[in-house]
Amino acid sequence: MDPKRILLIVGGGIAAYKSLELIRLIKKAGMDVRVVLTRAAQEFVTPLSAAALSGDKVYTDLFDLTDETEMGHIMLSRQADLVVVAPATADLMAKATQGMANDLASTLLLATDKPVLMAPAMNVRMWHHAATQRNLAQLKVDGVSFVGPEEGDMACGEFGLGRLSEPEAILAAILGRIGHSGALNGRKVVITAGPTFEPLDPVRGLTNRSSGRQGYAIAERLAREGAEVVLVSGPVALPTPPGVRRVDVESAQDMFDAVHAELPADIFVGVAAVADWRPKEAATEKQKKTAEPEMTVTFVKNPDILEAVSKHLEMRPRVVIGFAAETGSLEDYAKAKLASKGCDAIVANNVSEGVFGSAHNSATLLDLSGFTPIPGDTKTAVADFLADYIQKKL
Ligand code: CTP
Repeated sequence: MDPKRILLIVGGGIAAYKSLELIRLIKKAGMDVRVVLTRAAQEFVTPLSAAALSGDKVYTDLFDLTDETEMGHIMLSRQADLVVVAPATADLMAKATQGMANDLASTLLLATDKPVLMAPAMNVRMWHHAATQRNLAQLKVDGVSFVGPEEGDMACGEFGLGRLSEPEAILAAILGRIGHSGALNGRKVVITAGPTFEPLDPVRGLTNRSSGRQGYAIAERLAREGAEVVLVSGPVALPTPPGVRRVDVESAQDMFDAVHAELPADIFVGVAAVADWRPKEAATEKQKKTAEPEMTVTFVKNPDILEAVSKHLEMRPRVVIGFAAETGSLEDYAKAKLASKGCDAIVANNVSEGVFGSAHNSATLLDLSGFTPIPGDTKTAVADFLADYIQKKL
């Protein structure tokens, strides 16, 4: 399938610098992006940096004759699947409302027959001005959709509505507007990710080195296929991937409950490094140091989430996948886990060095037909492989 194409019009304003990150995210999400910089935008972002990130020519001037022979403004505005204006300044919104066509950006907005998404950014008083609010209402009637603006501190020192939405939020709005590859449209996926934290007292607890990156990469990838993705996440320092619903939990028991609250689902992927044990009693007060040279903590078994989902009598998902993080005897342990947990496949990875917390992962998938090495050595490659595998299994 051809990648989706975005025409990104960058308006002038201090927030224009965020458009570079947006270009990067659009490309990373597998879409093509062609960039138009208004004259004012070029005061904040150079055509060279936008071209380097987009990997394509950047358009700035309506009367550039080379462009008119190579590609007229009508073509430029119609070859896209979606036109995105970010930041959309008060001036660009006003021009678009009036149907003016006195520069490249406004001409493209008038000439396009494609959906338009605007991410406004301006001073709070300009945003609340009756003229801007009138333009906003008219643009909505004309079918333009909006993301933001957000509330916060402004570059001008004031506080209020008018900040450009974060690039991740704009990307989520883009995906929401033009849809996804669609291979997993209508499917619900529940994924566990990250470590669990098992409290000993209100300030202490037991956890592990899982960063959550592998589970987050899978969540992001499956959301791109159009699935409804719920990411049940232990404590990690990662942003929520675009289009993913995240449920934050701490302990294994909380994770178990949150996963079950999301069933039924079509697909379950257990990536979390769930603690097998928890302290039998978590003290309600902070524990004080005693004179004893040793301390004993009694642990009790945590529920096994993957096994419970795999063996769920009424609501077993069609595809259930687990992970086996091992430091040795990878294949034997993977076979034992596939059998005992009752899942459809186990992704076995060696975590003896450099996997926890890094972008790398080298793994092999075990199912009833045997072992398949997963090509590539990154967490993204594992996510890509699983996206394919799941589609074939459904
Ligand atoms: N898992 C789970 N709930 C648990 C323990 C593990 O859902 N209480 C899932 C993990 O998310 C992973 C798989 O089971 O998908 C294997 O986890 P791992 O920790 O490697 O295996 P364990 O069953 O805990 O076995 P061991 O610690 O002996 O290797």
